[in-house]
Amino acid sequence: MSRQFFRFALAAFAAGVVLAHAPALAADAAKGKAAFMKYGCWQCHGTEGQGSAITSAGKVLAPDPLPLETFAAFVRSTDRAMPPYSELALPPADLADIHAYLSSIPKAKDYKTIPLLNQ
Ligand code: HEC
Repeated sequence: MSRQFFRFALAAFAAGVVLAHAPALAADAAKGKAAFMKYGCWQCHGTEGQGSAITSAGKVLAPDPLPLETFAAFVRSTDRAMPPYSELALPPADLADIHAYLSSIPKAKDYKTIPLLNQ
């Protein structure tokens, strides 16, 4: 086997390893949106994490959600108005996707940048 072929094979193998693992590692905002609906978070927090007008019904989660670790710790261990979700009820990958979804929600524009609202 030539040295060049060996290098090629090694590179192809490495690329395969990276590609095969990418979906498992990267949190996915689109999947997170589906999970946010599936696990019922939207019922209290609104479909975009905007929270509820009834303050006891669900806090604002987006834009700018808590950092993932704090976010996850709360969801796992809350014992107040929100029911806790164990890893059995809500797998860590789905929780990371939910966090990615909430992180992907853009901030509302400053009204000053919208011409129609400044006439
Ligand atoms: C039954 C209604 C309800 C459901 C369903 C619900 N939440 Fe909540 N959530 C709340 C309430 C109420 C609070 C405020 C609780 C508190 O301060 O103790 C809260 C707080 C939070 C917080 C803390 C926010 C902060 O800034 O302190 C996070 C994070 C959160 N929820 C995520 C989720 C996720 C993710 C889901 C779905 C897996 C979910 N919640 C489902 C009612 C709900």
